[in-house]
Amino acid sequence: MFPAYTLVVFIRMAVFPTSPIDAHTELYGIFGNPVRHSLSPLLHNAVFQRLHLNAVYLAFQVEKDFLGLAFEGIRSLGMKGVNVTVPYKEAALNFVDDVPEDLDRGIGALNTVVNQKGRLLGFNTDAPGFLTAVKEELEFNPRGKKALVLGAGGAARGVAFALAYAHADKIWIYNRTPEKAKGLQEYLEGYFPETEIESIETFEALKKEKAHFVVNATSCGMKETDPLPMDLRLLSGEAVVYDLIYSPSQTPFLKLAGELGFKCANGMGMLAAQAALSFGLWTGRKEDVREIMSEVLQKWRG
Ligand code: ATR
Repeated sequence: MFPAYTLVVFIRMAVFPTSPIDAHTELYGIFGNPVRHSLSPLLHNAVFQRLHLNAVYLAFQVEKDFLGLAFEGIRSLGMKGVNVTVPYKEAALNFVDDVPEDLDRGIGALNTVVNQKGRLLGFNTDAPGFLTAVKEELEFNPRGKKALVLGAGGAARGVAFALAYAHADKIWIYNRTPEKAKGLQEYLEGYFPETEIESIETFEALKKEKAHFVVNATSCGMKETDPLPMDLRLLSGEAVVYDLIYSPSQTPFLKLAGELGFKCANGMGMLAAQAALSFGLWTGRKEDVREIMSEVLQKWRG
């Protein structure tokens, strides 16, 4: 015999193949500014619908002065969880009650908040999402390898942390503003004394020493007028290349990587992997929802 509740769920699934919004609907969302370009609502709502979960995910464009109030809203309205995106990933640390994982505290940026009975727990799923994507799409394992990180902002920090955490042997950091690259180098050295970390102002060093992996963690390539984050022809040999940008799906940087015959991928895989990890943290469900998300992304790409 099925319990009565299961029967109710079956009837409801038969009558409403996608859950209707009703008085039981659970609320999730993303806080950012700007946020209207975000694909997270598309991804999470597709998963909720496919798994018949009575939940919705909305995008909230939050002004800086209201960020604290927005976090209080998670608690006061009983939202189940949120993602946090640019420019609030670092500020989010001030508004959660705990950051349970050492790695997430180290990165110093959160993208996922879980509301655990009124206690707000912060996580970073970007870093593990990045490692999953490079492992699965590019079959690249950073252990013992030399990597070049382009950029020194929030995204670059997550990427560099992830590479050092995954036992990269050496990490070069290049940034338009060299002081920020130097700052990131010093910060990382404090956490990963066994990894060689070097901030560079030119690519000279890479003519002599081979980089196995290059990642674009700058925003260069999002707009047509952007410069290349680097000229890959300056490398001394072939490298595996990852671009965090997924829109456009092929930046000029990735196009060049392809023309040079380098194995490369854009940020779609990371987008789906970090979203799937957030979903797992919120719901405690174990199934891999990336396939649903990848389908949605493929449709979106057209
Ligand atoms: P995110 O959180 O996405 O990393 P961010 O912290 O604003 O965003 O960082 C953006 C990164 O892209 C920075 O490394 C930035 O370089 P600066 O530190 O010199 O600003 C880099 N970037 C943005 N536009 C750039 C451009 N036109 N040329 C080179 N680097 C650029």
